[in-house]
Amino acid sequence: MPDLHPITRQLLEWYRVHARPLPWRESPHPYATWLSEVILQQTRVETGTAYWHRFLEQYPTVKDLAEAPIESVMRSWKGLGYYSRARNLHAAAKAVMDQRDGQLPILAADWRALPGIGDYTAAAIASICHGEAVPVVDGNVQRVLSRLFDIADPVDRKSGRDAIRAWSEALVSEATPGASNQAWMELGALVCKPRNPACPDCPVREACLARQRGTWADRPVKQPKKKQVTMTVDFDVAIRKVDSRWEWWVERRPDRGIWGGLESFPATLTEGAGRDRDPQSVWGPVDHILTHRRLTGWFHLHTGDAASDLARCHPGGSWIPLDDADRAWPRMVDKVLPELRSRAVKN
Ligand code: ADE
Repeated sequence: MPDLHPITRQLLEWYRVHARPLPWRESPHPYATWLSEVILQQTRVETGTAYWHRFLEQYPTVKDLAEAPIESVMRSWKGLGYYSRARNLHAAAKAVMDQRDGQLPILAADWRALPGIGDYTAAAIASICHGEAVPVVDGNVQRVLSRLFDIADPVDRKSGRDAIRAWSEALVSEATPGASNQAWMELGALVCKPRNPACPDCPVREACLARQRGTWADRPVKQPKKKQVTMTVDFDVAIRKVDSRWEWWVERRPDRGIWGGLESFPATLTEGAGRDRDPQSVWGPVDHILTHRRLTGWFHLHTGDAASDLARCHPGGSWIPLDDADRAWPRMVDKVLPELRSRAVKN
């Protein structure tokens, strides 16, 4: 067996004592581990755990997930954000059923071939569930390793990424790669935190170059962020009354692009900040910030023939009751729905 790097040995001793008892760690099943890793990519453990339990209850197997309507999966994801994760999860479950006879992959390279599964998720599942000695590099690991080895290259450029990868490969435990991978992530989550690292509690502090050189606050180095784009969004809300019940026209947004796969009123996006008043609109401005966009929204109400016309121009949609609460809306729309409902029926 190859030597265990002394740094990894110290790390694993620490992990045995300090690992959080996360539910998916008890007996790592590939499907459950896959779910947990996708959820945890952009969600904190505290929030993610509840969703993980609920998701497994609703879709206990990959077959259940593949056979569920995408709308149902999107609804289950509601509140977690980054909805492409849910769409990819569903697409990958279908691919497993259709192309792999329902058998989940074993090797990281085969996981990697499924829709939406990147190096991180593939390596996490293969190492945790099947003992494949491939390193996992997430944001936590980038931070920990760039401090430990005082890496001054930006971790989001090739040079920095290569340096992190080389170290992560050198440090992975051949015998227990799942434990060593999770231990690095755990160290980042619990000790080597972005702002206030608890260096006295760190099992590898003696080796840490950034600690010795006082550079930890500047690690990891990242390229300057792209400037956010400012956009105006006009939502067209068509309403009608059928047998004393109010309905509005809602369409599913295309899978790609902003709010992909979510349901919403037909929307027009225009680059630029645009107006600060809009007498044609029943509600706005509604400010909303996404990862790369700064949005200002205006809601326009359409009734009678104008409502029918609008529906005709957006043939993929459907009339749904105003009080149908069980939809995966964009947050920006969700937060103004109570106001829109009362304005719509007053009109
Ligand atoms: N973050 C994402 N996946 C994790 C895992 N398996 N252990 C610790 N932190 C994580």
